[in-house]
Amino acid sequence: MVDRGRPGGVAGGIDAVLEASVVGSFTRLGPALRRKSAAWLPLHRRPGRVVVLTGASSGLGRAAAEQLGELAMTVVCVGRDAERTEEAAAAVTRAGGTGIAELCDLADLDTTAALAAKLAADLDHIDVLIHNAGALLQDHTTTTARGHEVTLTVHLLSPHLLTSRLRATLDAAEQAKVLTMTSGGMYTERFDLEHLEMGPDGYRGSVAYARAKRAQVVWTLAEQARQPAGGIDFSLVHPGWAKTPGVASSLPTFDRLLGPLLRSPGEGVDTLCWLASLEPGDPPGGQLWLDRAPRSLFKLPSTRVDDATLARQGDELLAWLDEVTAPGS
Ligand SMILES: NC(=O)c1ccc[n+]([C@@H]2O[C@H](COP(=O)([O-])OP(=O)(O)OC[C@H]3O[C@@H](n4cnc5c(N)ncnc54)[C@H](OP(=O)(O)O)[C@@H]3O)[C@@H](O)[C@H]2O)c1
Repeated sequence: MVDRGRPGGVAGGIDAVLEASVVGSFTRLGPALRRKSAAWLPLHRRPGRVVVLTGASSGLGRAAAEQLGELAMTVVCVGRDAERTEEAAAAVTRAGGTGIAELCDLADLDTTAALAAKLAADLDHIDVLIHNAGALLQDHTTTTARGHEVTLTVHLLSPHLLTSRLRATLDAAEQAKVLTMTSGGMYTERFDLEHLEMGPDGYRGSVAYARAKRAQVVWTLAEQARQPAGGIDFSLVHPGWAKTPGVASSLPTFDRLLGPLLRSPGEGVDTLCWLASLEPGDPPGGQLWLDRAPRSLFKLPSTRVDDATLARQGDELLAWLDEVTAPGS
């Protein structure tokens, strides 16, 4: 087993200083310094590896589509805008892989279920499923048919539904990976199922986003805990702070102030593509990754819980998700 812990020696010292500073870690300083480590090797080409990537039409997802294409993978690009999703799939093919476009509005669970059914019928296996789609909304919006808040639906309900319905297709791979794009925002919230879904009264998009992102952490660990040895590996990936259309539109002040320090989308998805390119089973699931090293799930004492609490929260969350994403619910 390859040791994928944090770097040691001088590189480890620099890494620890960056990590403690947060801004140094999340901005482009992070990869600029960390990639000087001897362990930061070029990625392996993986011809024929099958990846399903949500949010491929913009920002980080669009950059990942291209990088995974350069590694000769088959990338199913999921998006809701036909033209930009087709373009992302074409970019995969231009880069040397095979791009396939699939349309889906992940705010609508029925559409997500239809996507899962189509992928299960079309693909005999999936090596890597990437839950990257996401948005920080200003206003409270509910999904058309089932009435759930959109931020929660896109970040958690649809990923859970897609993963559950594709489980057999994932199990058909040698040892599939499910990679979920997390955010520094989740460090500000603790998990609370009772208050997970925000209603219209006092709605704050940044809080809804952070709670959904924290719930993704609890979901990832709970799914991992249920896997048999050699089963699917569930991991979280933090892109750092990257300059994307999503950041420009939802956090314009942050985008303006940090502009020159933000990562490029390509830098933001390096760790995502690195994880997707490693051998099956490497690294083991259940961890959060930034700049090719495992990172803490908690930064603030007020959000920290012990392992037993985390496990209980995970059981509660999975039971609730199974209920709200069940057919006809
Ligand atoms: N950029 C950062 O600094 C940063 C930091 C931490 C975490 N993240 C996370 O990284 C992921 C990508 O963000 P980004 O910065 O690349 O933002 P982005 O440029 O806005 O891209 C978001 C992607 O998600 C898709 N999406 C949003 N709602 C959707 C829906 N209802 N159905 C289907 N697709 C939907 C978007 O589709 P459209 O193109 O149709 O809008 C787009 O492809 C998100 O999960 C975000 O939370 C980003």
